[in-house]
Amino acid sequence: MAKTYSIAIDGPAGAGKSTMAKRLAKELGYYYVDTGAIYRTVAYFMDLLGVSPKDADGVERYIDELNIEIQYDEDGKQHMLMNGLDVTDEIRTQDISQKASLVSAHPVVREVLLDMQRDVAKAHNVIMDGRDIGTVVLPKADVKIFLTASSQVRAKRRYDELIAKGQTANLEQVRKEIEQRDYQDTHREIAPLKMARDSVKLDTSDLDIDGVIAEMKRIIKEKIPV
Ligand code: DC
Repeated sequence: MAKTYSIAIDGPAGAGKSTMAKRLAKELGYYYVDTGAIYRTVAYFMDLLGVSPKDADGVERYIDELNIEIQYDEDGKQHMLMNGLDVTDEIRTQDISQKASLVSAHPVVREVLLDMQRDVAKAHNVIMDGRDIGTVVLPKADVKIFLTASSQVRAKRRYDELIAKGQTANLEQVRKEIEQRDYQDTHREIAPLKMARDSVKLDTSDLDIDGVIAEMKRIIKEKIPV
């Protein structure tokens, strides 16, 4: 099999990972893999079944009933299929964000999703974003970038996104939820959010999208032929 390149982007919620990864993937002709969407699909599935995301036994009991597929449309947009049903839009709520963070802490969930993520990277050039891509999923990724920003800036971005989608939101509440999620994601036992030792840290607090993209391209070009 021909060599494939992988770019790992990790960081806390709202740091701009998916916005940047999506744009770079388009420019470079890479697959964009939003791994948070996979955890969100698990959370949504458990929620429909009435299983609490904290209930380790319940999650373990039902995880085998869930078949997740990732599909891409002509525009390169990632779609999440939950037992054949497209739930791409349904998983984008604040409620599911919190539940995804909780459900992702269970070892059985992380185990089931690990091969799925690695298989995509084996078959394609990928830009994959998440929390543990550079540390656990693709420890040998060609490029690793850790995107971050202050919680205030991240909350404002998430708030603007929710409002743009027509959802109701309260900025202070969004900030609290982001901080709680940061705490959960960095303190879980398995594959917590942390910067890989060989990752390049990029603080996006004072940069606009073009500024972040330019900086990321510079980092990528140092490591792989693009
Ligand atoms: O990136 P996101 O906000 O869509 O992720 C939702 C949750 O999923 C996040 O709070 C923690 C979990 N997650 C994870 O544990 N590991 C990943 N690689 C991606 C997301």
